[in-house]
Amino acid sequence: MTKVAFIGSGKIGQTIAFNVIMGSYIDEAIIYDIIPELPEKFEHELRHALASRKLKVEVLGTNNIEDVNGADIVVISAGKPRKPGMSRRDLFVDNARIMIDLADKLAKRNRGALYIMVANPVDMMASVFMKYSGEYTISTGDQVETMRMRSYIAKKLKVHVTDVNGYVGGEHGEDAVVLWSTVTVKGKPFDESMGVSKHEVEEYVKKIPGEIIRVMGGTTWGPGTIIEEIIRAVVLNENKVMSIAFPHKYEDEIIHISEPVVVGRTIGPSLEPLLDEKDRWHLMASIKDFYSVYKENLKQLEQSLTAKQ
Ligand SMILES: NC(=O)c1ccc[n+]([C@@H]2O[C@H](COP(=O)([O-])OP(=O)(O)OC[C@H]3O[C@@H](n4cnc5c(N)ncnc54)[C@H](O)[C@@H]3O)[C@@H](O)[C@H]2O)c1
Repeated sequence: MTKVAFIGSGKIGQTIAFNVIMGSYIDEAIIYDIIPELPEKFEHELRHALASRKLKVEVLGTNNIEDVNGADIVVISAGKPRKPGMSRRDLFVDNARIMIDLADKLAKRNRGALYIMVANPVDMMASVFMKYSGEYTISTGDQVETMRMRSYIAKKLKVHVTDVNGYVGGEHGEDAVVLWSTVTVKGKPFDESMGVSKHEVEEYVKKIPGEIIRVMGGTTWGPGTIIEEIIRAVVLNENKVMSIAFPHKYEDEIIHISEPVVVGRTIGPSLEPLLDEKDRWHLMASIKDFYSVYKENLKQLEQSLTAKQ
């Protein structure tokens, strides 16, 4: 019996929930949002889709957070999305306030669940949620960038995407780094002479989400599919290597940084020790940068919480 709760049923929350529920490998889904009637009407839509596919998954759409209990996995996409021109980090204070509220309400009803953060800035939101709830939390991290990188190389080199392997790591967003020592094409280590430069790939990975948001209002289908794969790997204990962000102890905080790691019912081990020195140095630099920005953001958050009291 696997019960998954989806907190937030906006664009990305709906896409993830739809993909997971139609995958039919979970038994129960709870969909929660603060917009009146939205989860309930989405529940009807899902029931219609399940009927058409002849599938049975118990679905409950609700505006009552008390209904969200006993979940094995809690997927959190509640929060503000970026507007064109904004960085993910600009969302920190607003979305962190939501996470603190959710940490209080969800943790006591869903003890020991695996919490999967989707809302941005996703890695920092995972750290905030874990800090305030005490519950083990992961972030979808750079699995999204990893697929963007693979898809771009495959298109440029005119090979099937399964011929491209490798990972992007560090913080999800503009500062993510392609871990070049992991990238292979048809089993051979990546080389620019194959027909695409590293710079071009890196620029694509950095810039494409902003371009999609500018035209489509948000990124949905790519992350919605990729995040479903993370949930599937956990539920079905697939033990797949994915670049997601999991808790790292650094100085006095738990922080979330992506590196290739085995994803199943438990998370780990990490493949970081297998990376070359340059990639490991990039990851360490990401951790340091994350920590200093995170501490600064936490200060602003605390000020905003005191100002409100
Ligand atoms: N991790 C990723 O790769 C990734 C990809 C796409 C979007 N995102 C992020 O996911 C978040 C949601 O994006 P979206 O496009 O779905 O936005 P959206 O505005 O369509 O949906 C957000 C939903 O959250 C709900 N919400 C707000 N506060 C809530 C609360 N306290 N409890 C429950 N629900 C609440 C809103 O009512 C809304 O339905 C954003 O922060 C966005 O940046 C992350």
